[in-house]
Amino acid sequence: MVDTAVRGALYLVVAVLTSIFINVIRQHLPRPKSEPPLVFHWLPIIGNAIEYGTDPFDFYRRCRAKHGDIFTFVLLGKHMTVCLGPEGNEFVLNGRISDVNAEEIYGPLTTPVFGSDIIYDCPNAKLMEQKKFVKFGLTQQALEAHVPLIEKEVLSYLASNPKFQGARGRVNVSAAMSEITIFTAGRALQGAEVRKKLTADFAELYHDLDMGFQPINFLMPWAPLPQNRRRDAAHLKMRSVYMDLINDRRKSASHKVIVEGNEEPDMISNLMNCVYKNGQAIPDKEIANMMITLLMGGQHSSSSASAWIMLRLASQPSIAEELYDEQLRHLGPDPGRAFSLSDLSRLPLLSNVIKETLRVHSSIHTLMRKVMRPIPVPNSDYVITPDKVLVSSPIVSHMSSEHFPNPEIWDPHRWDDHDVEDMAGDDIVDYGYGATSKGTKSPYLPFGAGRHRCIGEKFAYLNLSTIILTIIRNMKLKTVDGTSSVPPTDYTSLFSRPVQSAEILWERRRPEYL
Ligand code: HEM
Ligand SMILES: *[C@@H]1O[C@H](CO)[C@@H](O)[C@H](O)[C@H]1NC(C)=O
Ligand SMILES: *[C@@H]1O[C@H](CO)[C@@H](O)[C@H](O)[C@H]1NC(C)=O
Repeated sequence: MVDTAVRGALYLVVAVLTSIFINVIRQHLPRPKSEPPLVFHWLPIIGNAIEYGTDPFDFYRRCRAKHGDIFTFVLLGKHMTVCLGPEGNEFVLNGRISDVNAEEIYGPLTTPVFGSDIIYDCPNAKLMEQKKFVKFGLTQQALEAHVPLIEKEVLSYLASNPKFQGARGRVNVSAAMSEITIFTAGRALQGAEVRKKLTADFAELYHDLDMGFQPINFLMPWAPLPQNRRRDAAHLKMRSVYMDLINDRRKSASHKVIVEGNEEPDMISNLMNCVYKNGQAIPDKEIANMMITLLMGGQHSSSSASAWIMLRLASQPSIAEELYDEQLRHLGPDPGRAFSLSDLSRLPLLSNVIKETLRVHSSIHTLMRKVMRPIPVPNSDYVITPDKVLVSSPIVSHMSSEHFPNPEIWDPHRWDDHDVEDMAGDDIVDYGYGATSKGTKSPYLPFGAGRHRCIGEKFAYLNLSTIILTIIRNMKLKTVDGTSSVPPTDYTSLFSRPVQSAEILWERRRPEYL
């Protein structure tokens, strides 16, 4: 009995050691010139998962130092070929539709959360049309209307949330900023009706849906786990809220929403009026799913960006004071004066603070595409074969001294006399969702590039500006230990964000205002 167990264990050890041995030997055999260098790994299948998962950015940087801009690593049985630098970004992000594909990679993870027949659960041409509808739904008028709504949300959060009572205090930044983000998102893009219908359940539904975005769900999105059941239930609930609402509006003949006597520009009525190229109006289910996508799509990157901005401002209070002076100069000293979209455009330091934070703390570190057929890499012997997943990671060029002197230093003033547009070159393309800068000559791509580029950039800038402006107007920020250090990054979710325990100190500028 014991004997068989011991023998079994022994066989297992021998088998594992043999497979490690074979795996290591195989890596030392000569490789065809067309294959990019393979990053060394001890364990078959698991490959470099641990180093990558602990700190993908540092992993890319070390691999780049050893192998150059193009290399392959193994991640849970998949061969990931990373192409870095502006040329790598161009190669991956502006790859031809017949060569590279996003939906096959992202679809399994996103479809249960976002829903069917949209985004990555439909042909690319349809995605391009959907992006066009949303992009043009965010009209100047819509953006203008959002600014005061978001300001109001932030003020009422600061006034009523237990975390911000009194004249000064200490707060966990990640938690607070993700709450603010959910409140503002719930209100701004989604409209007053949705907000009203969902108030009680909103945070919980959001949370259940969000649990669908876990790295494991790239591999097993269908696993019969409790969190996946809750994700699916939350999706159905959200979808039916939107569909009922669309139905009500169709019945009342008016697609517009009137709030406090004003017509609110909103995304639902915009989508209800859009028509696909084939003449079909967008089915209600697709409108509902697109609304869910817009809610979930920008959430993580926006809340991570706003948490990092708070941490950076706390670590360099002199920049926060410059921001405060900038708004005093342009908006005057009255903290009760509401501000508008055009005010925001007169605050260049504020937008440079966002720009610089997105350079140093890009939350999306790994953009992926499935390889559909062998693709030769320009100016090299490499051919990327369909057994690979192509990876682009713009943050590596964001943090290279070739492109940004002293890249580790967070300095919003580095943008004072040049703009991102200068870096992008002037290649303009239209993939079907409006003219966009090809952008890939740029070493700075926090919103990606090419046909899958972000359409939420304007919105992200607008609500980040409004949130930060409102906070800085009312608060001074400091680090807990009084130094200029910032906490480490947490890479355990799909998006990089500050560690959850990161705290800062806040103090009201005018205690009498609350
Ligand atoms: C600071 C905030 C944000 C950052 C850093 C960010 C970043 C990105 C990046 C890097 C991509 C490209 C993904 C890829 O190529 O694989 C992307 C795509 C996208 N983002 Fe954003 N995003 C932000 C906010 C938003 C917001 C607020 C929305 C919603 C209004 C949004 C909606 C989208 C959509 C629909 C796509 C297109 C996906 C595709 O075509 O495949 N994003 N974003
Ligand atoms: C900004 O707006 C988008 C779209 O509604 C939303 O997803 C995102 O969470 C918002 N960000 C913040 C910081 O409020
Ligand atoms: C912040 O979070 C940490 C752990 O996540 C906790 O120990 C600490 O008490 C929190 N601080 C505040 C001010 O809530």
